[in-house]
Amino acid sequence: MIRVEGVSKVFRSGWLRQQTHEAVKHVSFSIEKGETLGLIGESGCGKSTLSRLMVKLLPVDQGTLFFEDTDITHYTMKQMFPLRTKMQIIFQHPDSALHPRQTILQSLVEPLLLHQITDRKKAIERVMDLLAPVGLNEEILSRYPHQVSGGQIQRVVIARALTLNPSFIVLDEPTSMLDVSVQAQVIDVLRTIQKQFDLTYLFISHDLELVAHVSDRIAVMCKGEIVELDLSKKVMDEPVHPYSLKLVNAFRGYQMNR
Ligand SMILES: Nc1ncnc2c1ncn2[C@@H]1O[C@H](COP(=O)(O)OP(=O)(O)O)[C@@H](O)[C@H]1O
Ligand SMILES: [Mg+2]
Repeated sequence: MIRVEGVSKVFRSGWLRQQTHEAVKHVSFSIEKGETLGLIGESGCGKSTLSRLMVKLLPVDQGTLFFEDTDITHYTMKQMFPLRTKMQIIFQHPDSALHPRQTILQSLVEPLLLHQITDRKKAIERVMDLLAPVGLNEEILSRYPHQVSGGQIQRVVIARALTLNPSFIVLDEPTSMLDVSVQAQVIDVLRTIQKQFDLTYLFISHDLELVAHVSDRIAVMCKGEIVELDLSKKVMDEPVHPYSLKLVNAFRGYQMNR
């Protein structure tokens, strides 16, 4: 479905931009259709940067990017436009995800109209069809973002991504700003729609328990590199890399103290 080969990204900053920071270093892996690949690693290790490279929200410095077997590394904005609908990204911050002065309905139909996929009437029909799968009802459509809860916003954001009929979704810490009980509900929604709409996920989190719960395979990232990638059970039971072992041991210690 999606594949990266030797992908790297260097950020430059400071006077004459002479300070460099290699945020992603020669990363290679693929995600199969219908799979959930979990991406775990501590804050600042490059998870978000890697995911933005994968959906071309950031240009890669080195390496190759394949989407459905097509090399999209050097695609222009114009070439990317039709592909944009197929790759969606859902972020952590529910507060900033929706325009504060647009109703939920306006936010939901906007991408369909922007991409000129359909007219307003059909767009509204499509939105209506997506409410039940994400666990919302019609009532919410006339409200503004400040009138709905964080969990509901995240459901709206998920529905909005679905309107465009994507095949690949990056979930960048999608539940880390939510209460634990709400987090579980949103995870349930994500699992339900994955089956229903045949979605492929890159699920990013710093929470190993959550990643192990939702992922088929886990990629462990440390200082810009993928240091381990295997079936979730394998990584949890027999981590190989010292950094994975450290993560798993911390998680086991946490479990024992509960
Ligand atoms: N646009 C940017 N410009 C400069 N440095 C950045 C930029 N985005 C991220 N970084 C740096 O790259 C590193 C990786 O960041 P990020 O991918 O957000 O990590 P994570 O998502 O794992 O927390 C961090 O050190 C961060 O400060
Ligand atoms: Mg991040």
